[in-house]
Amino acid sequence: MTARPPIAMLAELTHRCPLACPYCSNPVDLARQENELSTAEWRDVFRQAADLGVLQLHLSGGEPATRRDLEELVQAARDAGLYTNLITSGIGLTERRLKALDDAGLDHIQLSLQGTTPEMADEIGGYKGGYKRKMMVAEWIAAIGFPLTLNAVLHRRNLHQLPRALEMAVEMGARRIEVATVQFHGWALKNRDALMPTRAQAEEATRIVTEARARLKGTLVIDYVPADYHSDYPKRCMGGWGSTGLNVAPDGVVLPCHAAQSIPHLSFDNARETPLSDIWYEGRAFNAYRGTDWMPEPCASCERKEVDFGGCRCQAMALAGDAAATDPVCVKSPHHIDLQARAEAHAAAEGAPLIYRSAPGKPVPEPAE
Ligand code: SF4
Ligand code: FES
Repeated sequence: MTARPPIAMLAELTHRCPLACPYCSNPVDLARQENELSTAEWRDVFRQAADLGVLQLHLSGGEPATRRDLEELVQAARDAGLYTNLITSGIGLTERRLKALDDAGLDHIQLSLQGTTPEMADEIGGYKGGYKRKMMVAEWIAAIGFPLTLNAVLHRRNLHQLPRALEMAVEMGARRIEVATVQFHGWALKNRDALMPTRAQAEEATRIVTEARARLKGTLVIDYVPADYHSDYPKRCMGGWGSTGLNVAPDGVVLPCHAAQSIPHLSFDNARETPLSDIWYEGRAFNAYRGTDWMPEPCASCERKEVDFGGCRCQAMALAGDAAATDPVCVKSPHHIDLQARAEAHAAAEGAPLIYRSAPGKPVPEPAE
C-alpha cells in the first residue's frame, strides 16, 4: 500500500528521568546519555520531519527537562514550523525555564500525574517531594498561560483517585485530561501483579468517565484509554502501524511505536544514517504491519479490520508470541479467554512489590518468583 505522510512525531529526547515510574513506557534496555542525539542532530531531524509532513511534535523522554538544551530544541522545532507539545513530569522545570520555553515558542504542555495525593504520587513516581514540586510547576504553567493537558496513568493502586484527578484538571485550568489505564509494555509488563486493575475497577472507571464527560462538556475534554486486558476489542494502536505517527528514540533509532523494539525479528533504521523520509516510506519495520495486507485470520476477513487494524502488534508479541497475531484482547483471538483469566489472576495478586524502572545503564530488576 502507499503510505500517507505522518501527522505526528514523538521525540524521546532522553531516557534519563528523575522519576522511576513502574509503568514507564520506555524500553527496559534504556539508551545511555552518551548515545543521545546532539542538539544539531535533533534540529536536522525536526527539519526532515516537517518536510515529510509532520505537523505536531511531542517532546518526551524520560524527562525532556533533563536535556539542558530543551529551550534550543523547542526553538529549532518552531523554526521548522512544527506545533510543539512538551510531555513532562514537571521535575526539572523552573519558572525561569518555563518562561524561556514560552519565549522559544512552546505551544502546549502535557503534565503527568502519578497520584492525587503526595503520598500516592511520590510512591508511584519513586521520587520524594515530586508531587509538591509538580503542583508548583502547574501554577507557573497557568500563570504563563500555556494550554495544559493533564496526563493521569491509572492502575489498581490509584484508580480510586480518578474523581479527584478530574477535579484537579478543572482546578488547574487544563483543557484536556488523558485518563489512561496502564498499558502493559516495557516496565509495566514487569509489574502486572502490582498494577493490574480489577474488572470492577475498570468498569467503574468507564462509568466515572462517561458521567464526567457529560457533566464537564465544554469545560474539559476527557481522552480515555480503558483497561484493555478487560476489554473485548483491542485499541487501534498508533492509529494503525506506520499510518499516522513515528517515534524517534534518544539515540536516533526511528520506531513505528514506543514498544516496537520488543518485536525481536524487526530491525530499525537510525536517523543518523538514513533520511527520515526513506525510513517512513521504505523502511522494512514501517512496512511490516502497515495497512491490512499482512493480516492473518481472523482479522483478514473481519469487518473491524480497518477500525482497529488488528490491535497492538507489541501486545500480540508479548502475549501470543507472534507480532502478526490478532491482539489477544480481541474476543476473536484464540488467546482471549486465557488472557482474561490471566488478567483476573494478576488483579487478584496480593502484596506484589512495585518494580521501579532503573536508570540507563543500570541493571534491570526482575519480579520475584
Ligand atoms: Fe480487530 Fe482482528 Fe479482532 Fe477483527 S479479529 S476485531 S480486526 S483484532
Ligand atoms: Fe507497538 Fe502497540 S505499542 S503497536
